[in-house]
Amino acid sequence: MVKYVVKKGDKYYPSDEMKKIAWIKSDSIYKEAKKNPIKFWDNLAKQGLYWEKLWDKTYEEKLPYFEWFKGGKLNASFNCLDRHINIRSMKDAVIFVPESTKEKTQKITYMDLYKKVNRFANVLKSLKVKKGDVVSIYLPLIPELIISMLACARIGAIHSVVFSAFSDEALKTRIKDGKSKVLITSDGYYRKGEKKDLLKKAKSGIKGTKIKKVVVVNRLNKKIKYNNKFVSFEKESKKVEQYCEPEIMNSNDTLFILYTSGTTGNPKGIMHDTGGYLTQAYWSTKWNFNLLEKDVIWCTADIGWITGHTYSCYGPLSLGGTLVLYEGGLDYPNPGRWWKIVDENKVTSFYTAPTAIRMFMRLGEKWVNKYKLDSLKVLGTVGEPIDSDAWNWYFNKIGKGRCPIIDTWWQTETGANMVNALPGVGPFIPGVAGRSFPGIKHEVVNEKGRKSKKGFLVQLSPFAPAMLQGIFRNKKRYRETYWKRFKGKYDTSDGAFYYDKDNIRITGRIDDVIKVAGHRLSTAEMENVLNGDKFVNESAVVGIPDKIRGEVPVAFVVLEKGKASKELEKSLIKLIRSKIGPIAGLNKIYFVEDLPKTRSGKIMRRILRNLLTKESLGGVSTLVNPGCVDVIKEQLV
Ligand code: PRX
Repeated sequence: MVKYVVKKGDKYYPSDEMKKIAWIKSDSIYKEAKKNPIKFWDNLAKQGLYWEKLWDKTYEEKLPYFEWFKGGKLNASFNCLDRHINIRSMKDAVIFVPESTKEKTQKITYMDLYKKVNRFANVLKSLKVKKGDVVSIYLPLIPELIISMLACARIGAIHSVVFSAFSDEALKTRIKDGKSKVLITSDGYYRKGEKKDLLKKAKSGIKGTKIKKVVVVNRLNKKIKYNNKFVSFEKESKKVEQYCEPEIMNSNDTLFILYTSGTTGNPKGIMHDTGGYLTQAYWSTKWNFNLLEKDVIWCTADIGWITGHTYSCYGPLSLGGTLVLYEGGLDYPNPGRWWKIVDENKVTSFYTAPTAIRMFMRLGEKWVNKYKLDSLKVLGTVGEPIDSDAWNWYFNKIGKGRCPIIDTWWQTETGANMVNALPGVGPFIPGVAGRSFPGIKHEVVNEKGRKSKKGFLVQLSPFAPAMLQGIFRNKKRYRETYWKRFKGKYDTSDGAFYYDKDNIRITGRIDDVIKVAGHRLSTAEMENVLNGDKFVNESAVVGIPDKIRGEVPVAFVVLEKGKASKELEKSLIKLIRSKIGPIAGLNKIYFVEDLPKTRSGKIMRRILRNLLTKESLGGVSTLVNPGCVDVIKEQLV
């Protein structure tokens, strides 16, 4: 088996075999990009994408806004489809693996995908969707999700994908904020062998919104009553013309919005543009995963999250690559399923989250050992800091000690990967993400914004092409969240330190956002749900470390009335699951008399978390009610 890495000291480096096939083989790319990052991206945008018209100005910055490729015109769906069909029309674009092993893997060629997207784009037009309209998509991991996204892009509509495991309430909030009139959903999907009803949740989610049309994909073969409001994805697609002229968009036109959690109860609609986002989706997929023409990439993230948008759709397809899309549970029908998929489809580039790795570690290596995994070349990780145990297990058991691990730090806001090590350059160090992608600059700074060995991770100007354009309909929140703390620098809300001169290690969120099994959740959003219950007076949710899920949420609740009981705990846990989704499942609720607060009334979640993790409590003196800390402490023993 080919070895793509060699060990030197405590670090790994690309082997000669990797250097032979690597798009980027040396450090010099970083130096070249640093000399003139704007020129660097200018060249990459021209080389990577097809533009209807080139730009008048490469980069313009008027903080907190900045614009790439100003005056440039292109269409994202054209870049993902039309330009490939002459040269790779019969190449697989998407390999869809249904959850049931009885259902056949579906190979969708570029020509097939092109046809389906064109037709569905015409369906959207027939439903009166116009350029600039927001279309909500609430679909499981099935090809129609990609088709819907690209169809929106084709006609210049803005897609807003909502993770299918989110609740009806979460869907409603996102539909309302986006003001969408059309929803694309399905009758359901398969998960761990069961049929999950999605349409029921969708129907409840659209109540009280402005949704006029619901397009339903028939995944479970359920009998659905179609009418003026509910129409069939399949039937409508047959009624329309087979070609849809792509809308020519400005580089700066919004391609999509994607809601993510912040520090308040309301999720924020992160906006991404067309040209900048696509340029970086293209190049980061190509270089991070060293994707060659015959390679197959599998990013296991759901497309409901940014990782799926960029590395299960726009990145691989803009490159003309082949991607795997797997509908189901990671251990269905047994914990060998993922590795079976890797072998059967000869996956070369595999991208997942540390939480999944830890889960497989727990399930035991026998499930992995049954498979060869010899097609793999590059392994990636994302979503949360990876501990060295998980890193080593991933490296040795999945990569068989042969493949580099690309630890990619980024965010919904950054659109594409920002800090990592490239497979042909390295070094690959357990737990260390690496350095800024060529042409991008990050720094670790102290509270005053000065460079420091340890502190806050910020991004410096010129800001990366894939960075967010803003928060949908909320300029104030955009300015305050990302641009207030450090003048002229983008605030990532992540802590970090320099591992050595070049390489950065990310320590995790420093705001009230938590990462549960790699999923981003807002403690404030969960508190809002709890506080809405008639028994609850106030609450504080904190994330505490968990061996498998990275972090899990626990709540401290002060009751308004009633008595603390197991039943009440259960019903509040159920309430959060139903209002947000199963990923927001609270691990435990502590009923307390009072919550530690500052004079201004801010609940000090850090103190509560440290009480549970037995870390030093830090300054308790600023609290208006320091006595409650001891009371809670006693309750926890
Ligand atoms: O805390 C960082 C963590 O995930 C956050 C972003 O979450 P989200 O917007 O859901 O996007 C996740 C996928 C891109 C970051 O602020 N994070 C992401 N990747 C890493 C990470 N933490 C450490 N190492 C990473 N590789």
